[in-house]
Amino acid sequence: MEPIEIGDLRDLIPKADSEIFSPDIYRETGFFIVRRVIPADRIRLWQNEWDRFYKDGLAGNRTVDQFNPVHLHEELPPVLAEIHKCPELLDVMQLLYPDLALFMQRFVIKDHNSRAPVFVHNDFCYDYGWPEKTTVFIPLSVSNEENGGISFYPGTHHFGYLGDAGELNTEIIGPDWPLVCPSLEPGDIALCHTCTWHCSPPHVSGPDRILVQATMQPANDPSSTALLRGEWRTRYRLNALPRNKFFVRCRSSRLRELQAKVDQVEGADVRV
Ligand SMILES: [Fe+2]
Repeated sequence: MEPIEIGDLRDLIPKADSEIFSPDIYRETGFFIVRRVIPADRIRLWQNEWDRFYKDGLAGNRTVDQFNPVHLHEELPPVLAEIHKCPELLDVMQLLYPDLALFMQRFVIKDHNSRAPVFVHNDFCYDYGWPEKTTVFIPLSVSNEENGGISFYPGTHHFGYLGDAGELNTEIIGPDWPLVCPSLEPGDIALCHTCTWHCSPPHVSGPDRILVQATMQPANDPSSTALLRGEWRTRYRLNALPRNKFFVRCRSSRLRELQAKVDQVEGADVRV
């Protein structure tokens, strides 16, 4: 198998890390680190709120999904649930999408429940609506190679949707394709296109990695959940509909059916 060549895009990678966001460079690289975006006092407010929520609200006892242990399921206090509304963040994102809407916000954390690596994947196969979506990662802790920091394969968003969901085969891009694991400080943000391949190494040392993931998109996407800046540009809104009702039957419902059958057989075996 002849691997794909990254070509001259390699030269743009160092330029995708700056205090000034360049939408043109981001559109080529599929990721961009913007330094010192969030004011320090706002970061401290979020960190204090997170510490209180994690220690008192969760009492170290969160719901952990074995297939996606980094995803935080519990309902957040309002200050944390509204991080995506931060004006300085929206000023950056509006440079990309003048009519700016939210797709979703969640926390992805590496604590004592979730130290393992996250395999290489892209996000669009788990989303819906249009593929012009950008996730902005907002670290409340440091995020780096030691504590399981988010890592990107530049330019891979150009491949688009790949027809299925799961762990991607990096052999098709070959061992020389760069993997960028930036050292992020609280206040920095990292943008990642929904089709960009990304992953994270194991947490081996340092503080828990606490990231907010806010996925934003143009306000003409019917999957949008809230308008953040500018005007609505869509006639249709899908977000009021239950997402699990879009299909009568589909691959995931079929998997659930098959798993139920397996559980039934295994249960019968146990009884024998
Ligand atoms: Fe992801």
